[in-house]
Amino acid sequence: MTTHTVEFVGTGEEIEVAETETILDVAVREGISQEYSCRVGMCLACSAEIIEGEVTQPGARGLTEAEAENYALTCMARPETDLKLDRGSYPPSIEAEEPTGEPADD
Ligand code: FES
Repeated sequence: MTTHTVEFVGTGEEIEVAETETILDVAVREGISQEYSCRVGMCLACSAEIIEGEVTQPGARGLTEAEAENYALTCMARPETDLKLDRGSYPPSIEAEEPTGEPADD
């Protein structure tokens, strides 16, 4: 069974993840504080920016093809190499819009 080291930048936490496991499954098992919700690749709650390395994530339907180059949905992503991830980083498609200062219409 081939495993890869997944390092979470900023915290220095590391986990060993087999190519057959998702990063989220191992993170939860190891007590890493990784946010998640749907666990089916749609909500993006478990997103992490890929700082270094490669993942395979064919079930990451919440990401565009371009976003999947730089972001991993950890509930779907399996490592293909050692990785450095910045968890809690989200793709531009879900970044909040700049506030306009105008009151919201109800
Ligand atoms: S938990 Fe929803 S996309 Fe991963």
